[in-house]
Amino acid sequence: MPHRSNLSLESPLLWRKRVPPAALAGLAQLLALLVCGFLLWLPLQWGMRLNLAQALILESLCAVAISYSLRLPGWWLAIQALFVPALYGMWLLALAPAWYLAGFVLLASVYWSTYATQVPLYLSRRRVWQRVLEQLPTQPGLRFADLGSGVGGLVHYLARRRRDSCFSGIEAAPLPYWIGKLRALRQSNALLQWGNFWRTDLGNYDVVFAYLSPVPMPALWEKIRREMRPGTLFISYRFAVPGVVPHAVIEMRDLGRTQLYLWRV
Ligand SMILES: C[S@@+](CC[C@H](N)C(=O)[O-])C[C@H]1O[C@@H](n2cnc3c(N)ncnc32)[C@H](O)[C@@H]1O
Repeated sequence: MPHRSNLSLESPLLWRKRVPPAALAGLAQLLALLVCGFLLWLPLQWGMRLNLAQALILESLCAVAISYSLRLPGWWLAIQALFVPALYGMWLLALAPAWYLAGFVLLASVYWSTYATQVPLYLSRRRVWQRVLEQLPTQPGLRFADLGSGVGGLVHYLARRRRDSCFSGIEAAPLPYWIGKLRALRQSNALLQWGNFWRTDLGNYDVVFAYLSPVPMPALWEKIRREMRPGTLFISYRFAVPGVVPHAVIEMRDLGRTQLYLWRV
């Protein structure tokens, strides 16, 4: 039965895709500690003991091997190799626990749900904002949304140049949201909202912009097709929608050879 054989082929990959890489990395470290503990215990039976440096190297190797078998991307392998040695190094520094708490709160307020969304904060530049401004329809009363607006740079820039229109940014992470909100205080046509853009109705906008990552693009395209009105515009910086040809591509002519993709819905 072809249906059953498809399932058995796909299911291991499916669960792997559903679990965020950060959770897989944590699982790999736990397994590595267990395996490493066993491998350290084994030679003790014959009176041999590994020193600390050897134990750290062994743990790193276990973590990398397990992460590799879980198909974590290459840059995760480097993180996994350094994780426990770095923990040990931090322990040697003997910092007060409050520093760890402060570091955690700061990182959490910037990266918030990145472990799940796989969309970290990195900011687009003025050159991108200029190209986006050039693409906006000229009619007044335009409604624009930046999905994941970061510190609100694009929203602020556009709102100052198109006072006839309304520019919204939706951002999930608290610290970037507050920075954007404060920047837009004196800009009545800029609206920064703290929230999850997956819960925002895109039918309210004439132009939607996103600078996210490859991960959400297929689902975002489905949402756009469901909610945006015919004739409206979707612009994505850097990340294309797999298998959907844009109606225009603008080369940014920068070092990274990045592109702006435009789709007329
Ligand atoms: C690559 S940054 C882009 C920032 C900004 N648009 C720019 O061009 O400078 C992506 C932002 O999207 C935010 N983000 C990711 N998923 C989100 C979601 N579901 N709802 C709201 N914001 C989200 C992240 O917190 C991050 O700040």
